[in-house]
Amino acid sequence: MSEPARIGLLGHGTVGGAFADLVAERADAVAEIAGRRPEISGILRRSEGDFDEVLASSDIVIELIGGTEPAREYVLRALEAGKHVVTANKQLVAQHGDELFDAARDAGVQLRFEAAVAGAVPVIRVIQESLGATEIAKVFGIVNGTTNFILTEMAKTGASFSDVLARAQELGYAEADPTDDVSGADAAAKMAILARLAFGTPVGLEDVSFEGITDIQPDDLAYAKDLGLSLKLLGVAERREGGLSVRVFPCFLYGGHPLAPIEGPFNAVMVEAPAITEITMSGPGAGGLATATAVLGDVVSILSGEAPVHVPGERLEVVRDVASSFYLHLEVADRPGVLAAVADVLGKNGISVRSVVQRGTGQEARLVMVMHETPERAFYSALSELAKLDFMRATPRAIRVIEEEFV
Ligand SMILES: NC(=O)c1ccc[n+]([C@@H]2O[C@H](COP(=O)([O-])OP(=O)(O)OC[C@H]3O[C@@H](n4cnc5c(N)ncnc54)[C@H](OP(=O)(O)O)[C@@H]3O)[C@@H](O)[C@H]2O)c1
Repeated sequence: MSEPARIGLLGHGTVGGAFADLVAERADAVAEIAGRRPEISGILRRSEGDFDEVLASSDIVIELIGGTEPAREYVLRALEAGKHVVTANKQLVAQHGDELFDAARDAGVQLRFEAAVAGAVPVIRVIQESLGATEIAKVFGIVNGTTNFILTEMAKTGASFSDVLARAQELGYAEADPTDDVSGADAAAKMAILARLAFGTPVGLEDVSFEGITDIQPDDLAYAKDLGLSLKLLGVAERREGGLSVRVFPCFLYGGHPLAPIEGPFNAVMVEAPAITEITMSGPGAGGLATATAVLGDVVSILSGEAPVHVPGERLEVVRDVASSFYLHLEVADRPGVLAAVADVLGKNGISVRSVVQRGTGQEARLVMVMHETPERAFYSALSELAKLDFMRATPRAIRVIEEEFV
């Protein structure tokens, strides 16, 4: 049997602790598949260990600290020292990808990060390797389990965003500081990584526009149910007009959509390409053991052979004004002519209406509409005109809708 593969572990928290246990449990199985037995040769955490010693005693460095510093410095130093690196850190790869991939290429070592997107679901490997030679048109999905849990609970119980968030924190589905998740920043980092791999172009966090779910109201979900829609926080990376669009936004889906049944903390990613039509992958997006499983899978890949080399292609232009269809919620005065005035503003901006539901009377009167696809700039200009109409009782609320129906 060959020499053991020495693993230096940076971080021993939820994922790092689960990974150390998993290595102890599965070392023989890894040795059978990959020819070398992994063993933890050093651990660094805030309260334990020394980075230089861990580095010197390892062949592979696993970064499970999180955040950008000191994770970035440690990962760069490990790559420069000729060590393979595995990380689960999406912000690190999304914000410093160019620098890290260059360092790995220069040193002739592997940088793997399967666990950084969709936890245990092997989306990176599929996009980078299985579909490595396929021209991908679009990658999209639900890549944040915390927000999917919150939206699922809001739809089921009718409770408010803040009540459901508090429950998610109690259950361990949301962190004490949930900002990154609920603002869409976490999903944006994951979409930057997926876009970079799918389109072979440098994509950073600054190229991704994102919106979160903090403004979603329980009645948006109630009306959506009536219209046969379900609400998800969606990440979309696609080729558009010779460029690239990477966005994260809350969005209604029709019942037949493959992502509509993805509920609770689960993740799902779809890849579309002319050659393959579409592939959907789903599963647990987080959790210590699930994430550690993806990290160990990367270790097996490193021990088994070569990793794809990242030679970024030309930088693609980021297209910001894409076309979308929208759901629109208007709280209006209950009087004649309101619907005609709304239709007039929409018509002047070239927006056509797919469906309208009138709800309530008096102080409760509302118009709930779904539009056909329209350039977003035109829609937002109509929205600001609508907000100024004298019969509007509250600021209009708009949420995107994916019109595509799957059969
Ligand atoms: N949790 C999940 O389900 C999940 C899923 C997918 C990806 N990830 C990613 O996995 C990574 C780790 O997440 P986690 O949930 O395991 O985090 P965690 O439970 O907070 O653990 C972080 C670990 O890093 C150590 N650490 C923090 N700052 C350090 C520093 N300056 N120097 C040395 N060690 C330091 C901590 O040390 P102490 O033990 O001394 O405090 C702790 O052991 C993150 O990038 C996260 O985004 C997590």
